[in-house]
Amino acid sequence: MILVTGASQGIGFACAEALLERTPNSVLITGRSAKKLEDARISMGEASHNRLMTMVSDQSIESDVHALIARLDAADSVEGAILAVGANPAFTGRPCRIHALDDATITATVTTNCTHALMLTAALLDRFRRQRTGALVWIGSQAGAAGPPGSALYSATKSFLSGLARAAHHEYAARGIRVHLAQPGLVRTPRTAAVVDAGGARYGLPVAEAADVARRIVDLLLAGDLSAVEVDLQ
Ligand SMILES: NC(=O)c1ccc[n+]([C@@H]2O[C@H](COP(=O)([O-])OP(=O)(O)OC[C@H]3O[C@@H](n4cnc5c(N)ncnc54)[C@H](OP(=O)(O)O)[C@@H]3O)[C@@H](O)[C@H]2O)c1
Repeated sequence: MILVTGASQGIGFACAEALLERTPNSVLITGRSAKKLEDARISMGEASHNRLMTMVSDQSIESDVHALIARLDAADSVEGAILAVGANPAFTGRPCRIHALDDATITATVTTNCTHALMLTAALLDRFRRQRTGALVWIGSQAGAAGPPGSALYSATKSFLSGLARAAHHEYAARGIRVHLAQPGLVRTPRTAAVVDAGGARYGLPVAEAADVARRIVDLLLAGDLSAVEVDLQ
């Protein structure tokens, strides 16, 4: 089984679609909304239905993260994972300078993107370590290095993944475990659709399509170079 978190739409969904096309594995996708997961399952097409599993698991909620880890523990095999959940409060509220961030937003974003991503990472790496094989891709962002104004909190949580990825590589590469931090630039997805073209034009940046970014993420998961830990996708 291959896990893709945050995969009822956007880049995660496109990764799951590519995995079903390119591998014989079953794929478990997660999201917060049962309806969106069911819609995703339907849109994958009938040929994939017997290999596509869905699970409601909200990465902002610790008990949901534990339930997902329990599901992984119970699975016969877990060959790899793509951790795609990454909350960006600039898309749910307004872009917000650091001095104006409220405590609840800081706590919720760091909990989802860092604390709970690390809990999932620890469970996956423990499994891969024991089975002496496995590949893990986190979806980061070039925002981590660029630090665009108004997205400091999001950017900081993406930078957290850089340290995590480098340390995981140093700790587990000798056991044959590959880890990669995929760092897309601007990507057209349901989250960004309303603003991404204007953002690209303002900063002179290209806008990638989710399917193209997903293809490269799945390339990394299936056959990435062991030493290519942080990979810019634009
Ligand atoms: N789009 C870009 O330009 C861009 C650029 C660089 C990096 N990224 C990164 O790529 C990843 C995917 O972004 P996207 O643009 O594809 O986002 P998206 O279109 O908003 O899709 C996000 C997916 O994650 C699920 N999700 C959201 N919050 C969740 C949570 N707390 N727990 C579990 N599932 C959750 C959503 O389903 P529900 O709503 O049902 O939960 C949905 O399936 C993120 O990590 C993002 O930071 C995106």
